[in-house]
Amino acid sequence: MMTEEYLHALLLNMTIEEKIGQLTQYNANVFLDSSADITGPRMQLGLTDEDLSRVGSVLNFSSVAEMKKMQDMHMENDPHRIPVVFMMDVIHGYRTIYPIPLALGCSFDAELAETCSRMAGKEAAASGVQVTFAPMVDYVRDPRWGRVMETCGEEPRLTGALAAAQIRGFQGSDLTYAENVAACVKHFAGYGGAEAGRDYNAVECSERALREFYLPAYKACIDAGAQMLMPSFNSLNGIPSVANPWLMKQVLKEEWDFDGVVISDYNAVGELLVHGVAADEKEAAKLAFDNGCDIEMCSSAYIHHLKELLEEGFFTQEQLDQAVMRVLRFKNRLGLFEDPYHGADQEKADCLYLCEKHREIAKRAAAESAVLLKNDGILPLQENLARVAVIGPFAREHGILGSWSCNGRDEETVTVADGMAALLKTGQVIVAEGCSNHWDDTDTSGFEEAIAAAKSSDAVILCLGEPQDYSGEGNCRTDIRLPGMQMELARRVIAANPKTVAVLFNGRPLDLSELDAVAPAILEMWFPGTEGGNAAAELIFGRANPCGKLAMTFPRSVGQCPIYYNHPNTGRPHWTRAAEHCGYTSDYIDCATLPLYSFGHGLSYANFVYVGMTLSDHQLSAEGSIRVSVRVRNESPVGGKETVQLYMRDPVASVVRPVQQLIGFRKVAFAPWEEKEIEFTLTEPMLRFWNFDMKHVSEPGEIQLMIGCADHFVLTDEIIMK
Ligand code: NOJ
Repeated sequence: MMTEEYLHALLLNMTIEEKIGQLTQYNANVFLDSSADITGPRMQLGLTDEDLSRVGSVLNFSSVAEMKKMQDMHMENDPHRIPVVFMMDVIHGYRTIYPIPLALGCSFDAELAETCSRMAGKEAAASGVQVTFAPMVDYVRDPRWGRVMETCGEEPRLTGALAAAQIRGFQGSDLTYAENVAACVKHFAGYGGAEAGRDYNAVECSERALREFYLPAYKACIDAGAQMLMPSFNSLNGIPSVANPWLMKQVLKEEWDFDGVVISDYNAVGELLVHGVAADEKEAAKLAFDNGCDIEMCSSAYIHHLKELLEEGFFTQEQLDQAVMRVLRFKNRLGLFEDPYHGADQEKADCLYLCEKHREIAKRAAAESAVLLKNDGILPLQENLARVAVIGPFAREHGILGSWSCNGRDEETVTVADGMAALLKTGQVIVAEGCSNHWDDTDTSGFEEAIAAAKSSDAVILCLGEPQDYSGEGNCRTDIRLPGMQMELARRVIAANPKTVAVLFNGRPLDLSELDAVAPAILEMWFPGTEGGNAAAELIFGRANPCGKLAMTFPRSVGQCPIYYNHPNTGRPHWTRAAEHCGYTSDYIDCATLPLYSFGHGLSYANFVYVGMTLSDHQLSAEGSIRVSVRVRNESPVGGKETVQLYMRDPVASVVRPVQQLIGFRKVAFAPWEEKEIEFTLTEPMLRFWNFDMKHVSEPGEIQLMIGCADHFVLTDEIIMK
């Protein structure tokens, strides 16, 4: 790595234009598409060749050769030989695709999340990527929002733990190492609170809710060493994040002391005009830069106006130099001054793509992220069945990677039909699509074939869900039921053969009330990635034992949304599963209050019995700790994993507290009939909350402890906080 003196010397010799270039990022096509100067992206962005030659970072490119070409072009023209840094969205894999982050959330397994990110980073780095725009840690409560698939769900502690693990996986311990990529945590902050679940929508959220639920996961990423941070598109309490002084200056810089690089989201500086908080591009540049946005992504406010703003005294030379130094240090940490390609090597990349090891990890991750929502005893199936029908629009659908699948290719995924055929010993797999999964498709001409297939088979695997482009950025829904004729197909197929397992592919919690009423078994696969079909087959036949637990609540209907397990208590709580209306309690007259499947729910083929909980003490002092031991026994002949979840409730506090909060979880493997003691250590900081004065404190009094899942506690006890 270069010395700090070297970087300062560089800075000293740079012109203002060169400095501003370091604070700008464009898409690769802007650099490569020179034929389109007159009408193309350069013209739209108002860029000259000179501007472009100074730009310090590039978003998205298609190959190592392309990346090297851009780097070479740049280095030849840059008198200071400051390399460009290349960034991309490597969210859940580069070419080998792992389950979507929401699925990984359900694994409750930080080690697994770290491994997936490490493998994804390895493929990406060999392909020329130096920075990934991940992890995304936006806190979510509303499944209508398409981007819930990119998050790890509705639990701040869980999301923080998995995101920190992803950062360790991507960044490793030394960023100069060619297999590591820098991580950019996003989108700061509150983006997941988009009103009505509509993407980019305004977010109105109290400071208490922000600090309690939304902000901790970003902080966990910074503590884990995230090198970069991206403010969110949305306005937060009236001010777009990239121009929000409370968020960017007070919280991020002053309270959290973040000294990494801040990069805007795509055109987010330009969009300050559209939001209506900047009259023109110059004001947009001023607002974003003044609030600590170092790099502007894909708009030109900085290139066009920062110099002028500096000359007019809107900010100081020192402010500019500090931002540039952050970028130079960052490039130095990546070792780019020594190796501007950061070890990119197409041959190496080709060997890594879809290699056996990565496929194996992808399969394990898909299996561990799947959640068995319901099982009336028909799963697992025997491998010696004579005939199995794989029915539904996802039976031989390759599009199960999910949104943000980077360079993943649908045609390289394993379908359910293929996965089943590989495991069924001598029997026959027959396939019938039945209908499509599009919302406006009313075609039922495939029903007959599907019903005949169901009737003539020993068991049916009914593969349903929503197309992968129904979730992800900009893909929000107001109707979160199974699209098209799928529910009708399900009813007919289940009537034809009651031994039917519904296997689901989707990027958000769906309203499954109708399916739950008729299907004897439901296996939620999410978008499982490259190895999805193999993982599904292993789970169906019991070669793998389901162990995922929901990281996000499944509502009974969209009308319950937003719905989440850790909601505040009310003065008139309604807490039964009963559908009946009780009158003047916080409920609905036409729907039960509790969700269909709550946070933390997930079945297994093993039978885990919670034997008892013991506490080393019942009084907790500020400096002390209490050991909470939970005895769990696997009362079954099959091995499996159980995620033991510890919740708390603070029944009397100076502000209204959530009805329950997860404060610890342990995912533990059990052999058949094995009994284990699982331990948690309880300390005072775990009980803290933001009080009336916005101080993070715990208060003396009773704290209830619960073990189980959010709507079903099997053990309870209480302690006194002194
Ligand atoms: C917009 C998305 O909001 C963000 O998540 C992503 O990193 C950037 N585009 C760059 O692709």
